[in-house]
Amino acid sequence: MPQYPQTRMRRNRQTDWSRRLVRENRLSVDDLIWPCFVIEGTKQYEPIPSMPGVQRKSIDLLVEAAKEAADLGIPAMAVFPVIDPELKDEDGSLAADPDNLICRAVQALKTAVPEVGVICDVALDPFTSHGQDGIVRKGEILNEATIEALCAQSTVQAQAGCDVIAPSDMMDGRVGAIRSHLDAQGLSEVQILSYAAKYASAFYGPFRDAVGSKSALGAADKRTYQQDPANGDEALREVGLDVDEGADMVMVKPGMPYLDVIWRVKERYQMPTFAYQVSGEYSMLMGAAKRGWLDGDAVMMESMLSFKRAGADAVLTYAALELARRLQA
Ligand code: PBG
Repeated sequence: MPQYPQTRMRRNRQTDWSRRLVRENRLSVDDLIWPCFVIEGTKQYEPIPSMPGVQRKSIDLLVEAAKEAADLGIPAMAVFPVIDPELKDEDGSLAADPDNLICRAVQALKTAVPEVGVICDVALDPFTSHGQDGIVRKGEILNEATIEALCAQSTVQAQAGCDVIAPSDMMDGRVGAIRSHLDAQGLSEVQILSYAAKYASAFYGPFRDAVGSKSALGAADKRTYQQDPANGDEALREVGLDVDEGADMVMVKPGMPYLDVIWRVKERYQMPTFAYQVSGEYSMLMGAAKRGWLDGDAVMMESMLSFKRAGADAVLTYAALELARRLQA
């Protein structure tokens, strides 16, 4: 490459048409996955104070929102249930009940808007009285007992019509176990999106407010199963195992603080690789925007481009609907 003054990097940046022509990445509605919170009842709508612009919705209102998502062309939604604390127990047994809130939400969504993909978390934390993702005995999260519960949870969700099962629990060996379990029940078409590299992150705080697992969890943490934020190589080993166990898609979570991990995972495995812009990332941007400290639209779009540049094929973002509206405008 010739040096300055033969080379002038500003030449290509002079005009809008030229900047558009040399643009390497762009966000499309096809890149968006919309995470949503569902509650019991009808016509129920609860704003979440720590997530400006995000609400918990009853199934009827969630279906209405899904119709708008479908009209905008959003490919998929990820649905999280907010369970009444009275219904939670030690082992999160409600997770395996085919009539639970998440299964009813999935059925309603797939009936009303079959063209939108539905993704469900597989992990026990919305259902356990202690807020951990697994079965706890004597203060320990039991790997194999948890896998059994996750297989049962996957079955009821898949039978309700869930398109993509997304294990977010970080137990060892769960992707392979869930795959065999689903296959054995004639559910071999159900996709698996593994939360393959999921870190023990403080950025999940507002999500735990939203689903009510924060109060359940108390001072406890998830560091015996979620990854240490200090580690990058370990994420590659995690992803490698899940790929070998049959994951169809992999995810890195959180997103922006882990762009290096997204890049390495995509480079190494060439798998469909998703980023989760988690609740705390969303809240940082939208909270600052609400106070007038940041331009919310601009920083949200810039953060989406950072995911694209890092190699993400899609992004789970609470701003999906807003972004899709703006992309369409
Ligand atoms: C449950 C789960 C969590 C998130 C997605 N699935 C929280 C956690 O692991 O404690 C976090 C999502 C977000 O912060 O937006 N296992």
